[in-house]
Amino acid sequence: MKEKEIFDYLIHEIKNSSQSIVLSAGIMKKLMTRDEFPKESVLKLVSRLGEQAEALYDQVRDAGLYFREENFPLTFDLHALINDIIDEYKPFMTSGNTNIQTEYDLTIRNVIQDEFKVRTIIVNLLKNSIEASKRSGTIKLSTSVAGGAVSVIVENNGPVIPEELIKKIFEPMFTTKKTGTGLGLAIVSRFAKNIQGSVKVNSSDTRTYFILTFPGSLK
Ligand SMILES: Nc1ncnc2c1ncn2[C@@H]1O[C@H](COP(=O)(O)OP(=O)(O)OP(=O)(O)O)[C@@H](O)[C@H]1O
Ligand SMILES: [Mg+2]
Repeated sequence: MKEKEIFDYLIHEIKNSSQSIVLSAGIMKKLMTRDEFPKESVLKLVSRLGEQAEALYDQVRDAGLYFREENFPLTFDLHALINDIIDEYKPFMTSGNTNIQTEYDLTIRNVIQDEFKVRTIIVNLLKNSIEASKRSGTIKLSTSVAGGAVSVIVENNGPVIPEELIKKIFEPMFTTKKTGTGLGLAIVSRFAKNIQGSVKVNSSDTRTYFILTFPGSLK
């Protein structure tokens, strides 16, 4: 992998986290100009800011992990991880007409897998779905399990990805967005391979979905 690509990757992840911090700080500033000081809300935001700054710190540290091919498997609760990611990225939904649904297969308990890589994959898929649902739409995250392999589906009903682009979207630096780096899905595909998993995409007028499948379901 080229130095430039590694640099872009670091910038990409750090940009996501910094964006969360800027967003929280903006909301806080608005709250603080109110005549009546909303102490409770400000306190909540301060603690959220602390968490986000910590996440940024973790990411800068974890970015180093990108350079390794091997995995560091941990036991974790997949649904708790997805809920956590949704809470973190909900504030980026620009339209009140967009909602996020979940449908979990509750037979999945814990999974053993590289949590950082699983998290990074789901974050990038969810971000793309949010960006594809700017005006309105439904985003859905669902899970299923078959033969020890877990699947996470991230779907939305935004614009269709034209067939001629489907082959290109996983290439590094391919983007159709003004501010996109085009690294999101390149990271997704690289990390999915690292964890012996796969990512498949399907897009139609009514539904675009990405299926992440990886081994590691624990009973
Ligand atoms: N859910 C989706 N709906 C429609 N198009 C999508 C979706 N996910 C990805 N794409 C298309 O695939 C392209 C590549 O996605 P990718 O995540 O790699 O980069 P990006 O989102 O453009 O930029 P970055 O992730 O670096 O901010 C996008 O620019 C978009 O055209
Ligand atoms: Mg993206």
